Amino acid sequence: MSKQQPHEFVSPVWRDGIFKGRVAFVTGGAGDICSAQTRALVYLGADACIIGRNVEKTEAAAIDIAKVRKGARVIGIGNVDVRNFDTLKKAADRCVAELGSIDFVIAGAAGNFVAPLAGLSPNAFKAVIDIDTLGTFNTMKATIDYLVESAAAHVSPNPENSPPGGRFLAISATFHYTGLPLQSHVSAAKAGVDSIVGSVALEYGPRGVMANVIAPGPIEGTEGMDRLASTDAVKADAEAANALQLRPGIRGGSPGIPSGRWGTVRDIADATVFLFSAAADNVNGHVLVVDGGAWRRQGGS
Ligand code: HXC
Repeated sequence: MSKQQPHEFVSPVWRDGIFKGRVAFVTGGAGDICSAQTRALVYLGADACIIGRNVEKTEAAAIDIAKVRKGARVIGIGNVDVRNFDTLKKAADRCVAELGSIDFVIAGAAGNFVAPLAGLSPNAFKAVIDIDTLGTFNTMKATIDYLVESAAAHVSPNPENSPPGGRFLAISATFHYTGLPLQSHVSAAKAGVDSIVGSVALEYGPRGVMANVIAPGPIEGTEGMDRLASTDAVKADAEAANALQLRPGIRGGSPGIPSGRWGTVRDIADATVFLFSAAADNVNGHVLVVDGGAWRRQGGS
């Protein structure tokens, strides 16, 4: 294990090697949030297969992620669109052929752009539903048999506290709790994502697969946030909240977030490690919101 002091990718509360011998399959794994999640899992002992549309970007991200731990095996499979089940299934089969199993899945591929309802064509709305909602379903369908195998091989609770298996995680959002201007397509898509995971939890929980959701809030430095925060309305809202200086001095003040700071990709990595760890052996069908309390102010309170 490479010695990174202090831990850059994940909180030092996590023990080295807790995911040794496990394999993560991650769609959207070259993206800002999912690459951070994968990096944390690999840092803590897992091998990984990341999936993306862009070949160069996906392969480069795999090489970069593998650098966090000596001996880590990370493969990047590009030219895979989560809207196409067949290519996704081939990628899952290749992951198992090369790395031996799929123990953890992150359905993270997402599509987003900022557009008012009047500016959305039916095809634009459908594009995001297809990437986020159908893509989550396809990812689950392409990997669920492997997750059932993994859960059977690594039964919980495990007295030796060895790494668990059979964990499914989708990345959602909080927009659909209130509705959000300019994000109606994403709100609808993410509501569908939460719903799919609830059904997976019920149907596959009895077979040992734990299925959960992380709903990130505004995460600094991500492509998604750059797109949203570049609109005048969001900028004005953030400036108004900053004027309150609820917790001044923390990274330049609060962008309307009760915790007083923007989220970081490490926040999401830490939540992921928790949900895949033995500490979450009985957490199933849960949506873990990691947003500093931001969604509670979405309605303007
Ligand atoms: C209105 C738009 C549009 C826009 C595209 N469309 N951009 N409509 N406003 N800004 C329309 C197109 O005109 C077309 O409709 C339809 O959407 C499909 O567009 P295509 O470009 O043909 O689709 P595709 O190549 O499949 O691209 C999908 C995409 C694109 C979602 C449009 O943005 C994409 O590939 N995104 C992936 C990367 C990404 O979004 N990353 C950010 C994820 S962050 P017509 O009618 O003309 O055919 C994230 C987090 C959110 O999701 C949470 C943040 C806090």
